[in-house]
Amino acid sequence: MSETEPTAVTGLEENLWPATARLDAGGVLSIGGMRVDALAAEFGTPAFVLDEADFRARAAAWRRAFAECDVYYAGKAFLCRTFARWVDEEGLRLDVCTGGELAVARSVGFPAERLLFHGNNKSVGELQAAVQYGVGRIAVDSFVEIERLAAVAAAAGVRQRVLVRVTPGVEAHTHSYVSTGQEDQKFGFSLAGGAAAQAVAAVLAEDSLELVGLHAHIGSQIFDTAGFGLAAHRMVGLLARIRDDHGVELPELDLGGGLGIAYTSEDAPLGVDELAERLIALVGKECAAAGLPVPRLGVEPGRALVGSTTVTLYAVGTVKELPGLRTFVSVDGGMSDNIRTSLYDARYTARLVSRAGASTAHVVTLVGRHCESGDVVAHDVSLPDDVRPGDLVAVPASGAYHRSMASNYNHVARPPVIAVRDGSARVIVRRETEDDLLRLDADPADLGGAADPARPARPGVRAGSAEPANPQGSTGAQVAR
Ligand code: LLP
Repeated sequence: MSETEPTAVTGLEENLWPATARLDAGGVLSIGGMRVDALAAEFGTPAFVLDEADFRARAAAWRRAFAECDVYYAGKAFLCRTFARWVDEEGLRLDVCTGGELAVARSVGFPAERLLFHGNNKSVGELQAAVQYGVGRIAVDSFVEIERLAAVAAAAGVRQRVLVRVTPGVEAHTHSYVSTGQEDQKFGFSLAGGAAAQAVAAVLAEDSLELVGLHAHIGSQIFDTAGFGLAAHRMVGLLARIRDDHGVELPELDLGGGLGIAYTSEDAPLGVDELAERLIALVGKECAAAGLPVPRLGVEPGRALVGSTTVTLYAVGTVKELPGLRTFVSVDGGMSDNIRTSLYDARYTARLVSRAGASTAHVVTLVGRHCESGDVVAHDVSLPDDVRPGDLVAVPASGAYHRSMASNYNHVARPPVIAVRDGSARVIVRRETEDDLLRLDADPADLGGAADPARPARPGVRAGSAEPANPQGSTGAQVAR
């Protein structure tokens, strides 16, 4: 192990932190054998710190638990080129839902056969790109898409394998924005309303499409198997009906993603072994009852594979006490790197990670730097009484839907993703710079037209100029030692 290996391993809540996270006797956190104060000094803050070994171990656990099944990592949770490579190396499949995610996969030569393409409104261009690359499966989501895809595949001279996305009418007990199994929503074909059966018939009627199975995704951040069980029951019912109506036994059943993770110590997620055991048993039982061969099961975990592998490292900038009201601790990121708190009212925890801090603590609101009072990183977190500017604070469980949903609100540059492993750190997504932020804008001096003649055109800031690399973000110089 590296010489940065800490001496004490205490004080980190179970389930919340990456597998290699350790606290040393001085209260300094390290992940992958790297001290976070050293990471902040080298790479600046805010930064996403991703525990590579943790991700690989989770990937292996999912493959083991779902040994005879197809495990698709849902790239929407977090994707970059290096990560796509890891997904491939770990033998997982990859679920993409836009041409952009597909482009990432293609850029690293992700095996096309192991890709699944989702989306309720894929463009013809995206369908063409997917068919051309040889994407293994496309989940069709509307009648017009079936026609479009059939035409695209016919023009390319291929028979495209297809799943029909079904809405099984299951209410997952999760936030309404991430609940997708109920009837009233934009994804898929309704089972109860008969659209799913019609879609199956429509796909079967197309020579350029090969129907290989059904798909359902009931929602996200789910903590029990009841919803999956009901979905499995209904989907197997549809498989039986397809056999009866068309004489076809479909070989695949994909039950989507959605397994929840712990964001605070109050969350008690299911383990992957438990989920696999229950799902496989359920589908087996349902198929036996329907007299069907057991289809190959597919699952699409996103959050459960990457969520807990990553912490966001922030530097504290200000501490503002409003007597009798609350204390606001402001960090150098916010809703541009974590939209989940304001969008879903998500709960997080946070911890001082650059020193031990006072033994007494108080409950504070951890806020960001954006011009909006809803810019909260974490409500009601307990931080030592002496938390002060320059301290580093880490928010665990920020690997899923943080970097992938990050924005440039207020022209704030998005943080880098630093992969740590065995005492070394690598930037797998670099920090944006002010040059990056200006790059897409036209330079008004180049636009000509009816410019105010009294205002002389000025040269714009161009890529490669001598601007400071990241004047917005804090640097290691601000970190207290
Ligand atoms: N498969 C399909 C078809 C999906 O739509 C999703 C997520 C997944 C798999 C992966 O679900 P997971 O295992 O990660 O729960 N932005 C929200 C989550 C949106 C999920 C969208 N679809 C959040 O931050 O909670």
